Amino acid sequence: MIKVAPSILSADYVNLQKDIEMVDRAGAEVLHIDVMDGAFVPAISYGPGWVKAIRPITKMVLDVHMMVQNPERYVEDFAKAGADIIGVHVEATPHIHRALQMIKNAGATPEVVINPGTPVAMIEPVLDMVGQVLIMTVNPGFGGQKFLPSSVDKIAELNAIKEKKGYNFDIEIDGGVNNETVVDCAKAGATVAVAGSYVFNADDPAAQVQALKDATK
Ligand code: DX5
Ligand code: ZN
Repeated sequence: MIKVAPSILSADYVNLQKDIEMVDRAGAEVLHIDVMDGAFVPAISYGPGWVKAIRPITKMVLDVHMMVQNPERYVEDFAKAGADIIGVHVEATPHIHRALQMIKNAGATPEVVINPGTPVAMIEPVLDMVGQVLIMTVNPGFGGQKFLPSSVDKIAELNAIKEKKGYNFDIEIDGGVNNETVVDCAKAGATVAVAGSYVFNADDPAAQVQALKDATK
């Protein structure tokens, strides 16, 4: 059964606590927080202050997805704010190894992220440093996009390396995830499913969390 990580990008910001408590009670293990800087991706979302505000209201793992150019400028701020996992895009810095080291030194779990156009080979040299790998299943920047089926082969390729080398990082997917697209991803080796619009744009977000789990039993 896959772990579920609702993305607050599609939540109701005015009633954020209510939405977070709802998915928490529904059994979601992880809360996905999409940080966008208006440079790496067009949109601007939220910063460390949001993580600090959310930290005391839930025990869920706080998973910060930094869609930020040169993310090393901010990793310490997010770690201090209470992030458990901090994800940095390999495309966003010439110093991915240093960025991951900084996350570890700051006391959080390092995660490396790749875009749909980036091959798995790009992150092979840092796979021994991470607790989680995020394979983007849409191009980052917006919620509500369509899942890219070509992602499934990349998950399988990464999972083969993971097994061969005996790594135990989680493999997370993000973008266009629903109770159908999640199935092949889980079979290929994905262990954490981010879902934004599928969870929060529904009448019953708790049922959607359960549906993702049921689909991957
Ligand atoms: C996209 C973000 C996602 C987004 C997913 O750039 O990284 O986390 O919230 O939204 P859905 O699940 O609606 O595709
Ligand atoms: Zn995300």
